[in-house]
Amino acid sequence: MPYYDNDIIEEVRSRNDIVDVISQYVHLQKKGSSYFGLCPFHNEKTGSFSVTPSKQMYYCFGCGAGGNVFTFLMEYENFTFSEAMEALADRAGVELPKQEMSSQARQEADRRSRLFEINKEAAKYFYSLLRSEKGKQAYAYFTKRELSPETMQKFGLGYSDKYSDDLYRYLRSKGYEDELLKDSGLVTMDERRGAHDKFWNRAMFPIMDANNKVVAFGGRVMGDGEPKYLNSPETMIFNKSRTLYGLHLARRTKMPQFILCEGYMDVIALHQAGFDNAIASLGTALTSGHANMIKRYGKDVYLSYDSDGAGTKAALRAIPILKEAGITCKVINMKPYKDPDEFIKALGAEEYQRRIDEAENSFMFTIRILEQDYDMSDPESKTAFYQEVARRILEFPEELERNNYIEAIASHYQVGFEQMRQMVHHLGTKVGIVSERQPLKSGIQKKRTREDGMMQSQRLLLTWLVERPEIYPKIAAYIEPADFTEGIYATVAQELFAQFAAGEALNPARIVSMFSQEDEQRQVAEIFNTSVDGMEREADWEKAIKETLIRIKQSSMERKRQNLDATDMDGLKQIIEDKRRLQEMEKLHISLN
Ligand code: UTP
Ligand code: MN
Repeated sequence: MPYYDNDIIEEVRSRNDIVDVISQYVHLQKKGSSYFGLCPFHNEKTGSFSVTPSKQMYYCFGCGAGGNVFTFLMEYENFTFSEAMEALADRAGVELPKQEMSSQARQEADRRSRLFEINKEAAKYFYSLLRSEKGKQAYAYFTKRELSPETMQKFGLGYSDKYSDDLYRYLRSKGYEDELLKDSGLVTMDERRGAHDKFWNRAMFPIMDANNKVVAFGGRVMGDGEPKYLNSPETMIFNKSRTLYGLHLARRTKMPQFILCEGYMDVIALHQAGFDNAIASLGTALTSGHANMIKRYGKDVYLSYDSDGAGTKAALRAIPILKEAGITCKVINMKPYKDPDEFIKALGAEEYQRRIDEAENSFMFTIRILEQDYDMSDPESKTAFYQEVARRILEFPEELERNNYIEAIASHYQVGFEQMRQMVHHLGTKVGIVSERQPLKSGIQKKRTREDGMMQSQRLLLTWLVERPEIYPKIAAYIEPADFTEGIYATVAQELFAQFAAGEALNPARIVSMFSQEDEQRQVAEIFNTSVDGMEREADWEKAIKETLIRIKQSSMERKRQNLDATDMDGLKQIIEDKRRLQEMEKLHISLN
C-alpha cells in the first residue's frame, strides 16, 4: 500500500482531471462521452486508447493498458506510486502532509533519494574531472574514439581519478556517511585497507534510468586491460535487468523501433550518428524485464548485437525473449564489422541505415544460424535440418503465419512449398499440436485463459456490478465482500460494496488508487472497462448472474468449512445458515426489471 492515506490520495486524484493530464501526453479527440487517441503504450495506427471523464479512467482496447490518473503517470513516466502522487499534488497545488509515511517507509524513501543524490554528485564530479587537467588522458581517449564534445556532454561522460579513494574522500567532504556510500556501490569498505573506490582511473559512463536520474556507472579502462568495463553493482536504485542504457533519450524517439545493441559505445556512436532510438542492456543478457520495458514504450526492435560468435549467441537468446513479450524483432547484419560503433566509423550512418532497411526477419536469422550445424551435402543431415525447421515453424500459432514462413523457407532453400507444408503438417499431427496459441510464460500479454475459474467468476460479477449497478440491491442479501477471496478482487469488492451501501455514485478511479502496483491497477481498470457482450436478453443476464453468484458462494462456503475448528459452534451454525441461503438462492429468481 502507498504511504499516503486514502483521503489525501483521493483528494489529489479528484483535483487532477484525467483528460487534462493525459492531454499533455496524448492528442485526444472527443467521441461521444469519451476521448480517444493513439495509445502511448503500444504501437498503433488506429486510436484504441480511450479516456472516460465520467469514470476518470483510461483504457486501451488494443493492449489492455488502463487505470486512473496515477496509473497513467506510473506507466508513462515510470514513476512509483509515491512519485506520481507527488507530481499530481504539485500540479494541483495540494500540499502533501509530511508525516504520512510510516517511519520505516520514510527511511526507505529517504535512503533511495540519498542514493540518487550520491550518484548525481558522483556524476557531476567525474564530469568535471574529465574537463580538468587530470582528465586530459581520458578526454583524449574519448576524442580518439571520435566522440564530439556535444556527445560527451549529452551522455554526461566523465573520468575517475587515479587515486583509489578520490571519490570516497570527495563524497565524505560532501557529508555522506560511510554506510550510505557503501550502499551506493561506489565505495567498498575493507577492515584493513579502509575505503576503496569501485572506479578509479577509468573513462566513466553514467547510467540513467528512464527518468534521467543517474542510478549507476560503467567505467572503461583507457586502452587495453582487464576488466575492460566495470559496472556498479545492483543497489536499491539500480536493477540491472530493468535498466536499458540510453532509454532516457530513446524513449522520445519518433521511430517505431528501438535499436538494441550490446554496449555503451555502441549506443553513444549510434546517437551521435543520428539514430536516436539506440539502447543497450548492460553487462547482462537481455531479460524479460528488459523486454517488458521495451514493450511498454510500444516499440519493436532491431537487434544490433556484435557480429561475432558471442554476439550471435546472445541474439539467439534474446529473440525468443522479445517474441514472448510480443515484440517483433529484426536482425541487423554488420559484417564485416564487429559492432555498430565500428561499423559507423568505417562505413558511415547512411550505410548503417541501409543495413537497417535490409534487416533480417528474426526467424529467418535463427534458421540461417541453425543451418551451420548441419552438413547440407549429406542427405540424412539435410533431412534432419528440415525437420528441425518444421518443428520451429510449428511454434507459430496461426496457420497463415506458418504458411508464410513455409513459403519463405521454401523459396530461400529451394524446396517445394507443398513438400515443406506436408512436413510441418505431419509433424504437427504427430506431436498433437493443434493450431491453438500457446499461453505465454510471462509478460504483458498474459491471457485470461490461465486464470482459474474462481477468479474469473469473481471478476465477472464485479464487472457486472460496475456495468449495471441496479444488480446490487437484488443480490446484496446473498453475498458479501468476504465471499470474494481472490487477491485484488477482495479489496475491490470491499470498496465497491461500501460505495453501493453508502448510496454514493460509483467512483472507479478511487478504487484503482487503493492499489500501489501498476499491474494491480491495470487489472482493476480492466474490471471497470469491460463491457459485457453476448447477452442480449434479460433472461440470459439473470441466469448468468445467478449461476455466478452461486459459484462464488459455494466456493466461499467450502473455504470456510475447511478452515473451521471443530469446537467452533458459532462457525458451524453459520455454515448451516449459509447452506440454507444457498438452497434459497438456487430457487431465486433475479429480476432485473
Ligand atoms: P564488448 O567487449 O563488445 O565491448 O562488450 P564494446 O562495447 O565493443 O566496448 P568498446 O567498443 O571496446 O569500448 C559489450 C558490452 O558488454 C559489457 C559492456 O556493457 C560493454 O559495452 N562488458 C564488456 C562488461 O560489462 N564488462 C566487460 O569486461 C566487457
Ligand atoms: Mn566496440
